[in-house]
Amino acid sequence: MMQAIAPGRLQLAILASGRGSNFDALCQAIERGELDADVRVLISDIESAPALGKAKSRKIDAVFINPRDFGSRDEYEAELVEVLKSHQVTVVVLAGYMRLVGRILLDAYKHRIVNIHPALLPSFPGLHAQQQAVDYGVKFSGCTVHIVDQGMDTGPIIMQEVVPVLPDDTGDTLADRILAKEHKTYWRSLQLLAQGRIYIEGRKVFIKD
Ligand code: GRF
Repeated sequence: MMQAIAPGRLQLAILASGRGSNFDALCQAIERGELDADVRVLISDIESAPALGKAKSRKIDAVFINPRDFGSRDEYEAELVEVLKSHQVTVVVLAGYMRLVGRILLDAYKHRIVNIHPALLPSFPGLHAQQQAVDYGVKFSGCTVHIVDQGMDTGPIIMQEVVPVLPDDTGDTLADRILAKEHKTYWRSLQLLAQGRIYIEGRKVFIKD
């Protein structure tokens, strides 16, 4: 029997290493009443990440955890899990979090960690996905929201949206167009979770009508 992953109002942690525009877009969807969620905390592994400032200005707890303060990834993630639990987080949202997730975090939040990637996976995983798409010469790229597993951008796919690649696109112009799509796709995917409509079987995600 399949079980819905995280039904009910989501208690989110956003993990971000950089700019935080997806974090902002999620906050805006919550404010509009289109995403049933609360952002309990924003956590960054980079002290200078603009995302931390964005969280503070929204009066959301902003926590910097320095991976270098820990002897191993397991120890770093144990601290991360402490912070998540102390904020009663139910779903972990990676939004430009530039680290592979290890077993401590995966075990603590099985099937409840999601990521957004700026390409149509399994094409162009990893860094500079938009530049990879331009260099390859594909006609369409887009974004993918997926459940996180131990691989790099490999987990079960919840939603994908297509963006055309134009003849004069650079990595940057394509990235801008994909980002606009990301800002709509992420909250929609999370809202499906909140509605209890997401089921997972093996590596397939099913969405209930
Ligand atoms: C986005 O393009 C996202 O797909 C990727 O990292 C970027 C983060 O951007 N994983 P932002 O920090 O949310 O503005």
